[in-house]
Amino acid sequence: MERLQKIIAQAGIASRRKAEELILEGKVKVDGEIITELGYKAKKNAQIEVNDKIIEKEDKVYFVLNKPKNVLSTVSDHKDRKTVVDLIDTKERIFPVGRLDYDTTGLIILTNDGEFSNEIIHPRYSIEKVYDVTIKGILKATEIQQLEKGIYLDNKKTLPAKVVIVNIDKNKKITNLQLTIKEGRNHQVKNMMKYFGHTVVKLNRRRLGTIDLKGLNIGEYRRLKPFEIKQLKRLANSNELIK
Ligand code: URA
Repeated sequence: MERLQKIIAQAGIASRRKAEELILEGKVKVDGEIITELGYKAKKNAQIEVNDKIIEKEDKVYFVLNKPKNVLSTVSDHKDRKTVVDLIDTKERIFPVGRLDYDTTGLIILTNDGEFSNEIIHPRYSIEKVYDVTIKGILKATEIQQLEKGIYLDNKKTLPAKVVIVNIDKNKKITNLQLTIKEGRNHQVKNMMKYFGHTVVKLNRRRLGTIDLKGLNIGEYRRLKPFEIKQLKRLANSNELIK
């Protein structure tokens, strides 16, 4: 027996709060009967309808993929380009948790668990993401200090980042660094570098919270282990910034 709002959220139809609203508005039926009680628990095999549409309850699956370059982080593409979903052999309707740019490689999680996905990507929860970054130009000490304090992107200050310089090639004028951030704004790493006039020429995500790419070559994937899923959930909730 599971709470109705949890089942709806897990099916990826709405957040738990929105699901509660739907229940209170009388838009949810269990075995044909409208239920407006928030504490209602449905049986495993109950037929649940939201706005008169039956929701499908799938087994939850969780994958970690080492995304190659030139693959989209979407479910489908109108131009028929390859997507991360195409790379995973499963019958479940999975989607990527957050995004990596078309030309970014590395760690991306895919699941059919909408609630898990919300927890991982919601800005309220701040899971560490570690990127290997190659930029044009030499990243100066003053720039590192600013990144560590936070810079203004679109009028909003970034959370403090960690910077580790891996290599500076003075002849080619290229810097390799490892950047750890706790947010996932659109093109965030590229925009953080652009702020100082540096173009990102290579970007790879190597870690998300406790999950890394050990044992996964580019294009390879594996299922997350139950303890890894639990760890990620715990991490998301323990890092909660705003209630
Ligand atoms: N930051 C970016 O700019 N791109 C990515 O793909 C991920 C983080």
